[in-house]
Amino acid sequence: MKFITIATTLAAASAAVAAPHTAKRDLRPISLTSLAADYYDQTPPASTTVSFQLSDPNTNIETACDAVWSVGGAGTTKYNCSDHTYQLNFPNGIYNIEDFMIQISRPDGSESGKARAYGNDWKCEKKDGYPSESCRWDGVFHVGVSK
Ligand SMILES: *[C@@H]1O[C@H](CO)[C@@H](O)[C@H](O)[C@H]1NC(C)=O
Repeated sequence: MKFITIATTLAAASAAVAAPHTAKRDLRPISLTSLAADYYDQTPPASTTVSFQLSDPNTNIETACDAVWSVGGAGTTKYNCSDHTYQLNFPNGIYNIEDFMIQISRPDGSESGKARAYGNDWKCEKKDGYPSESCRWDGVFHVGVSK
């Protein structure tokens, strides 16, 4: 339940910050399910694959997203989801598979937001293999969005 409280708090905080500018339409957080990350360090550059199912209650659109980020890559690089009206990027790169930022945006500028994947809901397992570490999010991962 903790992540829901955090997402709600963040949404409330960003709404408070946004309020003075203009009356913005309230957007509900995007839900990511089956969030998975796998880290491959055997072959340089070390790379992390990330995948999830995206569900946007604001548009009722559902799509699948996946990306491969390699050390040295840009945080601004955007990856299309299956539905190209949703894109994914990693603003700070992925230097720790157990703690990184996920940004979701829409090319038309109608929604954008990011959330940090870390903490007790991230179930990670190191292994002597390929990948060398795998993480699965336990439950629904929320990304608060605004215009
Ligand atoms: C993402 O989708 C847009 C719109 O379909 C397309 O123009 C662009 O080339 C795609 N980018 C990549 C990296 O595939």
